[in-house]
Amino acid sequence: MLKSPLVTVLFVEAVLLGVVSCFEWTFQPDTMVYSCTGKQVTLPWEFKTDDEESVLQISWIFGDVFDSVLVATVSFDTFVPTEAYLQRVHHVTNGGLYLRDVTMKDSGNYTVEVNTEKHGTLSTSRHSVFLQVGDGLMTQGNELKVKQDPRALWDDSTAQWVIRLICGTFTFMGQPNIHVIWTTPEGETRSSTYYEDNNFYLTLLSPVEGGNYTCLIPIHLLPDICANTSSHGNETVSATVGVDDLRVRLSLIEAEQKTLGDRLRESEETCASETIRLKEANTDLLKLLNETRIMHDQEQETVYAEIQTLRNVTQNQQVLLDNQKKQVAFTVRFDSVNGATMNVGRSGTIMFDFEVTNRGNYFNMSTGIFTAPVAGTYFFVLGAMIPKGQPYAEMGIHVSGKGVLALTHGGQNYIRDQTHAALHLNEGDQVKAKHCWGGTVIEKYFWTTFSGVLLQPD
Ligand SMILES: *[C@@H]1O[C@H](CO)[C@@H](O)[C@H](O)[C@H]1NC(C)=O
Ligand SMILES: *[C@@H]1O[C@H](CO)[C@@H](O)[C@H](O)[C@H]1NC(C)=O
Ligand SMILES: *[C@@H]1O[C@H](CO)[C@@H](O)[C@H](O)[C@H]1NC(C)=O
Ligand SMILES: *[C@@H]1O[C@H](CO)[C@@H](O)[C@H](O)[C@H]1NC(C)=O
Ligand SMILES: *[C@@H]1O[C@H](CO)[C@@H](O)[C@H](O)[C@H]1NC(C)=O
Ligand SMILES: *[C@@H]1O[C@H](CO)[C@@H](O)[C@H](O)[C@H]1NC(C)=O
Ligand SMILES: *[C@@H]1O[C@H](CO)[C@@H](O)[C@H](O)[C@H]1NC(C)=O
Repeated sequence: MLKSPLVTVLFVEAVLLGVVSCFEWTFQPDTMVYSCTGKQVTLPWEFKTDDEESVLQISWIFGDVFDSVLVATVSFDTFVPTEAYLQRVHHVTNGGLYLRDVTMKDSGNYTVEVNTEKHGTLSTSRHSVFLQVGDGLMTQGNELKVKQDPRALWDDSTAQWVIRLICGTFTFMGQPNIHVIWTTPEGETRSSTYYEDNNFYLTLLSPVEGGNYTCLIPIHLLPDICANTSSHGNETVSATVGVDDLRVRLSLIEAEQKTLGDRLRESEETCASETIRLKEANTDLLKLLNETRIMHDQEQETVYAEIQTLRNVTQNQQVLLDNQKKQVAFTVRFDSVNGATMNVGRSGTIMFDFEVTNRGNYFNMSTGIFTAPVAGTYFFVLGAMIPKGQPYAEMGIHVSGKGVLALTHGGQNYIRDQTHAALHLNEGDQVKAKHCWGGTVIEKYFWTTFSGVLLQPD
């Protein structure tokens, strides 16, 4: 063996890595092999080893693990068939086996087993194939039949309904080693569309041409399918089916109608379910709307109630305020010692300086004026003392716009007189005690007092 530097490097690496065997299959037959009774078969296994590896033994075994027989061995470079295979087997290539005059009994599993040794390590490599032996045309009943699939079939690749012609039925256990050829009524030649479940199929697309369709096995392939060539002579094996284009069109139309019907039904179902979905969505929306409306109404009610409460509060406050306005009463005098006098001046207002009572604070101490907060009936009392030795004097109750309405008098001898008046006042009317005539000096302290009270508001 000629070794290139690359092979040497690979080999050295293999040793370093502890890879002992460099055994390698260089050819393995297909796992399914066909032959015919009386014919031969070659199982051309081939392998290679490297220089350091020696082949100890090659064995060929027929059968499976439960029931197997040895066909032949090679030991010490000598091919030794077992007795049953004595005249029928040869050693071909380095791992291959040639078997002739095969019979149906030879059908089955063949395994080659190669035992090698390298640096004292033994290893075994195996490969198996299955041989099927045919006896006569490898079809059911040894005849070829062609027929039309009565049902139209949906073809995904062309997205349409098609008619299929079926040619078979073959007895190959795996993928066949032959093919068939089709001829159309127009004389065209076509290959099969596909092979499946022991039949070759030809699909016919619309518009289907009516007439005779033939499925035939090419003459040169007849030996491969175990046809008895002497009985077929120069003739090929073929079968013909008449395709009625009207009937085909009818079945295609029926299939299409069925599809349309199915689609219609599907879309109707989709429509119906969509309608249900929409109805449900609508109901949900209505419910939501209703809830929102109810919530809104509730909110409005709450707001109304609050407004009502506020209104009530305001009204209550108003009532309180009104009541307060109606609590009107005052009594004023002087904060001074006995004997103190004052000169009020001509037409002067008596300026009291001590509040006894001032409900509502409607008597203004800094002006000496009472202002009526509401219209109503009031009662006033003015008491005034004129000191001894002073000239005669008159003091009165004065209402703005109406003049003096009541008078006191006194003089010379500590006369204390009083006057009173029940008056109807309008809101804002001002009332005061003032000098009216004569002397202007009055006795202060408790001796001059002025009182007013609201008896009854209007
Ligand atoms: C063929 O025989 C081998 C070895 O006995 C076994 O491993 C394999 O499973 C068999 N194959 C079949 C298809 O029986
Ligand atoms: C089709 O084949 C039948 C017999 O298989 C034959 O009678 C008929 O004439 C053929 N038709 C055509 C158009 O070749
Ligand atoms: C093959 O056909 C010939 C002629 O029809 C016949 O004599 C012979 O027996 C057939 N052989 C087999 C194996 O069927
Ligand atoms: C087979 O065909 C060839 C030429 O096509 C012809 O010479 C021969 O006679 C034919 N044999 C038979 C048995 O029909
Ligand atoms: C909306 O609510 C009212 C009462 O709150 C009820 O009577 C009515 O049926 C509801 N409507 C919907 C569409 O839910
Ligand atoms: C408001 O006042 C009226 C009468 O004074 C009373 O009937 C009503 O209950 C009050 N409302 C509230 C919210 O207080
Ligand atoms: C009393 O009158 C004076 C002068 O007009 C004024 O400034 C003051 O606000 C009044 N007091 C009250 C409590 O009305």
